[in-house]
Amino acid sequence: MATLLLVTDETIINKSIQISLEQENHTVLMGESIHDAKSITSKIDCIICEHRLTDGSGIDLIMHFKPVPLILLVGQSALQIGILAMRKGAFDCFTKPVDPADIIKAVDRATATSSALVTDPMVGHCEPMLKLKRQVSRVAPRDTPILISGESGTGKELVAKSIHAQSKRSGFEMISVNCAARPESLVEAELFGHINKKLTAATSDHLGLIESADQSSLFLDEIGELPLGIQSRLLRLLEVGEIRRIGSTEKIYVDVRIIAATHHNLLEMVSKGEFRKDLYYRLNVIELICPPLRDRKEDIVILAEAFLEQVKNDLVRPGIQLSAAVKAALTKYRWPGNIRELRNVIQKAVMFCEDPIINIIDLNIQTIDAGLRGFSAGDQHHVTENRPTMSLEDYFQYFVLSHEEQMSETELAKRLGISRKSLWERRNRLGIPKRKDILPDS
Ligand SMILES: Nc1ncnc2c1ncn2[C@@H]1O[C@H](COP(=O)(O)OP(=O)(O)OP(=O)(O)O)[C@@H](O)[C@H]1O
Ligand SMILES: [Mg+2]
Repeated sequence: MATLLLVTDETIINKSIQISLEQENHTVLMGESIHDAKSITSKIDCIICEHRLTDGSGIDLIMHFKPVPLILLVGQSALQIGILAMRKGAFDCFTKPVDPADIIKAVDRATATSSALVTDPMVGHCEPMLKLKRQVSRVAPRDTPILISGESGTGKELVAKSIHAQSKRSGFEMISVNCAARPESLVEAELFGHINKKLTAATSDHLGLIESADQSSLFLDEIGELPLGIQSRLLRLLEVGEIRRIGSTEKIYVDVRIIAATHHNLLEMVSKGEFRKDLYYRLNVIELICPPLRDRKEDIVILAEAFLEQVKNDLVRPGIQLSAAVKAALTKYRWPGNIRELRNVIQKAVMFCEDPIINIIDLNIQTIDAGLRGFSAGDQHHVTENRPTMSLEDYFQYFVLSHEEQMSETELAKRLGISRKSLWERRNRLGIPKRKDILPDS
């Protein structure tokens, strides 16, 4: 998965760490000294390095390889060295003897973090995400069909792209088809193509998307929506690699790798007769599950910051940051729309925030509400899920009116993440009446 550089002159450590990392599908390059390490020219994703080497300290490699993350191994009672290393920018530090499992986890975190900043579009390093990334790397090189399931907005399409990008078919474009919400005949013609026999309104033969995906991958999004009639044609493709254009009897053989995605429970659809059982088992040779964002709490802020970076650049608004209260609120919210919702919230916040710090008031209402109420009243996420969306100004009014009796103006302003002056100005601008009968139920 990643290319690692292991620099140590201790044979035993060396072997056990190397073997464990290779078992995780990493490529491990070896070096015994600072000199060896510095002479490496290939691209490295992470370095694991001894502090004490024959020609210097591993700490010296931090600057040399920056921004590649470096994990330092130090002897017992070398706490000071560890602290120094961390201050100099080491990614992590372990005292020996070190458990290879700890190194594997640190490498996963390091590569997830660095790739989040540089190349990997799949941001995240919580355990379910790391597991998913490992699975993606393992299954990508094979030709087996893959079924990706997960709630809406959890990144199913991104996983499909990642599988294709890591496969031997990546030299060709992946062809994507959304199977949802279109008339059966249209989807069928689009997928299988047709010859001109007046069966369709088309005037010439038409190459289907399956044929266009020859030698590449075909991404069938929302496969659960595929009409039953087309499901049997697709089964034939999966079983023998054969299709027929609509209106033709000629068999055409294609070499495509099928990647399908769904937010439905396909097994349940099978039991209701809505999805073909044989097709389900053909597709479900490997099932990858995209976890909902609420089960990836530790990734929420990392994702938010990755989106913030993107949006800041796109909108040329440098220097904007998330306040601590915002980070806490984002983490607390249940994200029914998953990563897509988080990205939208950050996008809007960057567009509309007035200060260089994004405060609670700049967030989408459902998020702030959950966050704020979460601080004072424990875990009440579920309450907000069906709440209609209010505008920011509505929310401001709602918050002020429902808290002004218990809070001073200073506290109100602090909770809203704005200055007292700003609170005063907004109150005046909105002409907030001092009564509570306009509030929605909470
Ligand atoms: N791990 C991730 N890191 C960064 N961005 C992500 C990640 N997962 C998803 N996204 C982004 O979130 C958005 C939604 O992802 P995607 O379209 O892949 O989800 P989906 O599961 O296919 O959703 P739907 O079921 O609604 O089609 C996209 O903009 C995608 O780039
Ligand atoms: Mg999708």
